[in-house]
Amino acid sequence: MIKTSINGVFKDNGRLFTENLPDCKGLKVYDEKLIVYNNREYRSWNPYKSKLAAAILNGLKEINLFEGANVLYLGAATGTTVSHISDIVRDQGIIYAVEISPYAIKQLSRVCENRKNIIPILADANRLEEYENIVSKPVDLVYQDISQRNQTEIFIKNVKKFLDEKGQGILMIKARSIDVSDEPERIYGSVVKKLREVDLKVKYKIDLSPYAKDHVAIVVNL
Ligand SMILES: C[S@@+](CC[C@H](N)C(=O)[O-])C[C@H]1O[C@@H](n2cnc3c(N)ncnc32)[C@H](O)[C@@H]1O
Repeated sequence: MIKTSINGVFKDNGRLFTENLPDCKGLKVYDEKLIVYNNREYRSWNPYKSKLAAAILNGLKEINLFEGANVLYLGAATGTTVSHISDIVRDQGIIYAVEISPYAIKQLSRVCENRKNIIPILADANRLEEYENIVSKPVDLVYQDISQRNQTEIFIKNVKKFLDEKGQGILMIKARSIDVSDEPERIYGSVVKKLREVDLKVKYKIDLSPYAKDHVAIVVNL
């Protein structure tokens, strides 16, 4: 098991891992593998199920994640990626996990029973007033993975509200959810243009294939 350039992310035989939290020993969140190495338990991180793992394997080297980081996560679903971020930020960090689906939030709440650093929030990421009083500002990372037509506008509103100049935003874009008929490259270009028009600095754009087809990760700073 070797450290990667990303805090709290490890590699073994080309596969990514995070170290399970002490209170979660033996517990899985999805169908990940648990392995013990030097008395520590690690969880395999599947890039086909988590776009953040795919972005790391495809070259994303700088993520504003560290022990104690505060994260606003938009589109938490049932907690697959959130759980790995929970391993990375450890007990001193907090993840505000916003999700619109009552079904998904119910599953996520089960994950939070053992992971005290995740706060599940049933809300629409388009309506910041539903959760702005819960999130302590600024956060270190705004991470968004929601397949909605207006996902760029949602991301811009959240980044402007919850980040300061030291923070980072990561937007996972699914080309087809913005426009099924247009070329993915043109869609990504128009997203980057919109981000620059509101003075966000676009640092990286990372293609997520073969793990997620027609998806990219876009990393920004204020
Ligand atoms: C692709 S899934 C997220 C997968 C998750 N990020 C992961 O890696 O484990 C997208 C999620 O965004 C949620 N979603 C869609 N629109 C939303 C909105 N406006 N506000 C909050 N969540 C939303 C969906 O219910 C769905 O659970």
